Amino acid sequence: MIMKDQLFKAANAAMEFSHSPYSQFPVGAAVLSEAGNIYSGCNIENASFPEGNCAETTAISHMVMAGEHRILEIAIVAAKKTMITPCGGCRQRIAEFGKPDTLVHLCDENGPKETMRLEELLPKAFGPEAL
Ligand code: THU
Repeated sequence: MIMKDQLFKAANAAMEFSHSPYSQFPVGAAVLSEAGNIYSGCNIENASFPEGNCAETTAISHMVMAGEHRILEIAIVAAKKTMITPCGGCRQRIAEFGKPDTLVHLCDENGPKETMRLEELLPKAFGPEAL
C-alpha cells in the first residue's frame, strides 16, 4: 500500500476516537515521521470550547512523546465527507516539525484526494529563524 493510503487508514481509524460532542465534527490525522513511524490523533473537544484541540495536534503530540521531531507527511480526514484543510494553528504546528516540502494529504471518506506542500498552505511561515 502506498504511504498516503496508509496514512489515510491511520487517520480514519484515529477519527473513531474523536471526542466532538459540541461540533459533531470528528477529525482524524496521521503523521509519518522521519524514522518511518506513523502517529495518529483525533480532535478532543471540551465544554470550555477554546480548550479543545485539533486532530493534527493530538497526532503531533504522540510523535513528540515518542521522541521524534520530524514530520515528512501528514494526512487529515473529517467524517463530514468533504475534504478539509488544516486550521491556521495546526499549519503552524506542522511547520514546527515539518519542512516547506512536507506533504499534506487532504482526504475524504474514500481516501487521499489532494496532496499539497506545507509551503503552499503556509507561505512565509513564521519560524525559529525569526527569533
Ligand atoms: N478540527 C480539527 O481537528 N482539525 C482541523 O484542522 C480543523 C478543525 C476540529 C476542531 C473542532 O473539534 C472541530 O474540528 C470543529 O471545528
